[in-house]
Amino acid sequence: MKEFKKIGVLTSGGDAPGMNAAVRAVTRTALARGVEVMGISRGYSGLIDGDIRPLGLRDVSNIVNKGGTFLYSDRCLEFKTPEGMAKAVATCRELGIDGIVAIGGDGTFRGATDLTAHGVPCIGIPATIDNDITSTDTTIGFDTAMNTVIELVDKLRDTCESHARCNVVEVMGRGAGDIALHTAIASGASAVVVPEFPHDDDSICKRIKKAREIGKRNFIVIVSEGVGSDYGPALTKKIETEAGVETKFARLAHIVRGGNPTLADRVIASKMGVYAVEALLRGESNLVVCEKRGEIGTVDINYALKLDRMYKGTLKDGDLDPFTEDQIQSMKDEIEERKQGLLALYTVENKINL
Ligand code: F6P
Repeated sequence: MKEFKKIGVLTSGGDAPGMNAAVRAVTRTALARGVEVMGISRGYSGLIDGDIRPLGLRDVSNIVNKGGTFLYSDRCLEFKTPEGMAKAVATCRELGIDGIVAIGGDGTFRGATDLTAHGVPCIGIPATIDNDITSTDTTIGFDTAMNTVIELVDKLRDTCESHARCNVVEVMGRGAGDIALHTAIASGASAVVVPEFPHDDDSICKRIKKAREIGKRNFIVIVSEGVGSDYGPALTKKIETEAGVETKFARLAHIVRGGNPTLADRVIASKMGVYAVEALLRGESNLVVCEKRGEIGTVDINYALKLDRMYKGTLKDGDLDPFTEDQIQSMKDEIEERKQGLLALYTVENKINL
């Protein structure tokens, strides 16, 4: 079995609160096992440029509570080219980096599986506020982002109540309505619109109109970014015209990606960081750390990536060829379970929304 003397850690893609806690856990777990740790700055860009420094115990002090990522992040296009990959592999050879823990979303995992195929074993840790990694119930940063959303929406509700207004609030989630569905329930929204379910704008307007007629003053409508950037502003105008309620639009955007991580994110990031290093040092690679029903484990990166494609309906010819019938069935089961989970949230929201 390969003996690990030195590993690298990087954060890549959109940042997520809790990434620092994961880097800290990775660093401390490896150091405790006598393995050196190199902090790679700006994701795969830092690996290509050699923007890398050793991390000691104290270098990861005082970051478990901090948002963003102290290693910085990047979405690196060069890494997708053969030249970029060659430079990254050469950096690993020069610095004696035996393996890498890559923290991020699906783009990060695509990079990690390519790097593994080029002889640098990698393990991925899912960190994205969107919670759009199908193989895990929870991603690092999701809980913090949701809590930030409800804190902000609570403030909007105060002023809506004072002025008898409606506020349409767009929340992040590139193709996933997870943030929107949870926060709509938790903030007592009057309606929620997500890409996973059809929406009926006329019925939203009618319900708001009727509720105004019987005295309701404030209305919050949560819209997921995944529905499209023009949708929220258009719905705002429609509600104002058809429900007769003054309506404002707020796009929360990147503000919900910052801030100190919640307890839940700090804990899951720490658990995943420890698990990733232990798996890497056991000689495992090309895996994504996952949390399923409270248990931390791993799945093969290729399985995780194809599962995501199956979920999003973007599978390409031959994508499923490497998998057995049982594995394909288990992908279908996981997707069904996830869809049922979202439907359950949507149903609850619809039962209590006005
Ligand atoms: O990290 C996920 C995410 O926040 C999405 O919700 C959003 O669409 C995207 O990243 C925005 O990314 P960028 O940092 O490139 O603006």
